[in-house]
Amino acid sequence: MSKETLPGIKQFDLSGKAAIITGGSKGLGLAMAAGLASAGANVMLVNRNAEEGAQAAKELSAAYKTKILSFSADITQADQTEAMAQAAMDAFGQIDILINSAGINIRGPIDEVTPEDFNKVIAVNVNGTWLCCRAVTPYMKKNGSGRIINLASTLGLVGLANRTPYTASKGAVVQMTRGLALELAPFNIMVNAICPGPFLTEMNVPIAGTEEAKNFIVGATALGRWGELREIQGAAIFLASDAASYMVGSMLTVDGGWTAK
Ligand SMILES: NC(=O)c1ccc[n+]([C@@H]2O[C@H](COP(=O)([O-])OP(=O)(O)OC[C@H]3O[C@@H](n4cnc5c(N)ncnc54)[C@H](OP(=O)(O)O)[C@@H]3O)[C@@H](O)[C@H]2O)c1
Repeated sequence: MSKETLPGIKQFDLSGKAAIITGGSKGLGLAMAAGLASAGANVMLVNRNAEEGAQAAKELSAAYKTKILSFSADITQADQTEAMAQAAMDAFGQIDILINSAGINIRGPIDEVTPEDFNKVIAVNVNGTWLCCRAVTPYMKKNGSGRIINLASTLGLVGLANRTPYTASKGAVVQMTRGLALELAPFNIMVNAICPGPFLTEMNVPIAGTEEAKNFIVGATALGRWGELREIQGAAIFLASDAASYMVGSMLTVDGGWTAK
């Protein structure tokens, strides 16, 4: 056996790494934060509601030995994303990992959603993701390494009716990920995306139990069920770790088989 094949599970170790996770106060972001902390990473949770962020950080701190902080920022504002990156540098001295999980969804037929709704979704999911990538890039370049993981969606890969703001935004995240991956790979910064299927987070509470969810969302998966929050953790740990050092611009689906068709 060659020496190259030996590292195995150790490649997933994130000890001493510093991560920023936007949308880290709840849902998939919080689950991924727990996943990274369990693998040894220090984590800064970022969201707008300072109280919820602090509470989430407190709960994670009680469960893991690593340093867990929260930082309040609106990712649609460039100055706030820059302050976010600076705060992580001040706290950790480096930024190794950025997970862009902050996102919103406004549903409805195109003649019922408003131009303001469309702009809101694009502002958070596209502009906000781009601004966070932009804010950490100089530090990662200086460090000579980095990992950026964007939360796209199955709905960045396939369509669904009554979702034009969201599908447009997630399609953009897919292409932003590919373009940025090519741009930053020469700097040893690997950019990839996770495309989750349906998880029953706050975002999906309004559609839980509806005929639409039964037939076209949960029903679109091969497993016929919602994902469990723990089921997003492996993908995040993997893409953040050395084990993914040959992953560039990938769309990693964690979707119960929705897009396997
Ligand atoms: N759940 C799913 O089934 C699913 C499927 C595919 C993709 N995704 C994607 O996965 C990501 C996480 O989704 P989720 O289900 O975990 O959502 P969630 O439970 O609704 O959480 C959204 C998070 O984003 C934060 N956020 C929203 N707007 C923000 C802003 N302008 N600035 C900073 N933070 C902001 C929220 O905190 P504050 O409100 O306090 O700011 C919260 O922490 C999203 O990008 C979503 O599109 C989810």
